[in-house]
Amino acid sequence: MEALTKKKQSLHTICAQADHPPKDPYGSHTMPLYQTSTFRFKTAEAGRRYFAHEPGGATHGYSRLSNPTVERVEEVIAKMEGLDIEEDAEGLLFGSGMAAITTAIMALASGKRVLAQETLYGCTSQFLNEEAPGFGIGVVNVDPTDISAVKQAFMDYDDIAVVYLESVANPTMRVSDIEFIATIAHDHNALLVVDNTFATPYHLRPLTWGADLVAHSTTKYLNGHGSVVGGALAARKGFFEATKMRTYRKNFGGISGPFDAWLTLMGLKTFPLRMKQHDENGRKVAAWLRENPAVKRVCYIGDPSHPDAHTIRKQITDGFGGMIAFELKGGIEAGRRMMDRVKLCTLAVSLGTVDTLIQHPASMTHSVVKPEIRESAGITDGLVRLSVGIESADDIISDLQQSIM
Ligand SMILES: Cc1ncc(COP(=O)(O)O)c(C=O)c1O
Repeated sequence: MEALTKKKQSLHTICAQADHPPKDPYGSHTMPLYQTSTFRFKTAEAGRRYFAHEPGGATHGYSRLSNPTVERVEEVIAKMEGLDIEEDAEGLLFGSGMAAITTAIMALASGKRVLAQETLYGCTSQFLNEEAPGFGIGVVNVDPTDISAVKQAFMDYDDIAVVYLESVANPTMRVSDIEFIATIAHDHNALLVVDNTFATPYHLRPLTWGADLVAHSTTKYLNGHGSVVGGALAARKGFFEATKMRTYRKNFGGISGPFDAWLTLMGLKTFPLRMKQHDENGRKVAAWLRENPAVKRVCYIGDPSHPDAHTIRKQITDGFGGMIAFELKGGIEAGRRMMDRVKLCTLAVSLGTVDTLIQHPASMTHSVVKPEIRESAGITDGLVRLSVGIESADDIISDLQQSIM
């Protein structure tokens, strides 16, 4: 522990100095925006070496392969996700969360099978169930909070290469035991990929519990300001080389643009402070919703009676975040009325922005998921999802109060 503490900085320090350039010829205090598609080679030999991956070549050659501003975000996210593992982590930045996720699945599971959590963000679910099979990737949907079902899937299929889950499932807020599942996956030579968009490295770092790869929609809490669509992958050093992940990103072309990377760096600077406030407000809003007579059920990971409370106590630290789903007694009609009446909260998809967003998963983010899968996973037509922002909690609650009636 002593050695680790000395080697790795805390999350607050990593983030506060996120935009410090590793080296800059002019001594810029903040990371410059390298808004360029290509880089001048000093000599033809430097260019040749760059493309041959030989030492002594240029550092950057073309922004679909790498870019200094993009690279800085990759370093920061790798530090955040790799905070408490012995070795260093590495990161890759993408133009969206879906670019990161689909690139990872294609790189790791081509010609094999993915054991996928049955409730996933709608586009991930649609990609896995409707498009991945066309690329020769089989899929089996399982509830990973049911360990016996995970073990059974490995008995039923001998070609599972990847287990894919969300650290806190969107929008049902179920939490799987990453350590148990990583052990089962590794026993069967499979890899565990965890989408950590909801929990973020503030509350949970999946690599610590044995996950092999972490995916993010940086669109959400990591950027935090709603100004970017982006994605990222993080893994132990050596993973991307072993899986040719950089080559997949290069050829699929999903890298982030430099400006989006720069905006993400600006957001990362205040990430821990934002997360603290999301958590504080989330607790207050969840408590208010629980006591409200119009509310039938609340899905919130800070709830002591949450079905995965044991796993949450084990894995989730420093609070519970600002994501809450709830169902009104009046069902879908009451939910629709409420969403049409909000004034302070914004009726919009996405999440993790500093301001509060409200949306309806069944007709919006999860509309592409087949109704029977939605229903069996608890994404009922009456479920409303709230991404609690960092405004005054009292103001958020007043708006919910006036809109719920
Ligand atoms: C949990 C989760 N993963 C992935 C994504 C996809 O991210 P993006 O919209 O940045 O492609 C989303 C988007 O809402 C999400 O909620």
